[in-house]
Amino acid sequence: MKKIKILNKAFTKPISCLTAYSPSIAKILDGKIDLILVGDSLGSTLYGMINTQGVTMDMMKHHGKAVNREIKRSLKVLDMPYKTYDNKIDAYSNAKILLNHCAPDLLKIEISEKKLVVLKHLVDKKINVISHIGVTPQSYKNFNKIKVLGRTNKEKKYLLNLAKESETLGAKAVLLECITADTAKLITENISIPTIGIGASRYCDGQVLVFDDLINLTTNNKKPKFVKNYLNFNKIASNAVKKYNQEVKLKKYPSAKFTYN
Ligand code: KIV
Repeated sequence: MKKIKILNKAFTKPISCLTAYSPSIAKILDGKIDLILVGDSLGSTLYGMINTQGVTMDMMKHHGKAVNREIKRSLKVLDMPYKTYDNKIDAYSNAKILLNHCAPDLLKIEISEKKLVVLKHLVDKKINVISHIGVTPQSYKNFNKIKVLGRTNKEKKYLLNLAKESETLGAKAVLLECITADTAKLITENISIPTIGIGASRYCDGQVLVFDDLINLTTNNKKPKFVKNYLNFNKIASNAVKKYNQEVKLKKYPSAKFTYN
């Protein structure tokens, strides 16, 4: 696959990745960053769910298709939703549905020791898979319970082992979510597929952020430490809305310029 070489460590440049849930955002991102992820974070970010466990195959199919249609240059990554890859059979049949419907370059699944067998099965079936380890949001009903991992030796060892197993079984990359810098460094230095981090320090081979966080579109008051707002869209949009409202009330909009004769 031509573009997949981005996921080769020899590519050296840190890999950039952002989420997109809609065609308009996909168009903005395409070609400017390496990977575009239709993440199941759309459950909480877009649909206002309290976690990602309510995200369905249909949601991923609709958003995946709408987004991926617009992507011409970046690599397309799609999340498999909660409970759709609990065993090998379900995983493969749901993966095929998502691949046929949305044509992503890679699928991403959240991995625990128990899920390694699923990862292997998908790879054996020639599917490109990203292994998501560390904090795996699909395992949390309550996001407030999420805590950074990799602080204890036991966690460090467990995560390193998961990453190594993911590589051995054929994952194309490992996504590290909310883990300490030293654990991210240890993993990155000990595997030869790229690590892509979110809340996992600069030691990863790449970084991913939720686009809505990048532009501060979310109304979430509790901003995780790793989120950097590159733009305050919330403020800019609020001001635009206020101005529009004022102009409508004052009958300044629509003026002649915006009127058909
Ligand atoms: O669903 C998602 O957007 C993700 C990112 C947080 C990496 O998995």
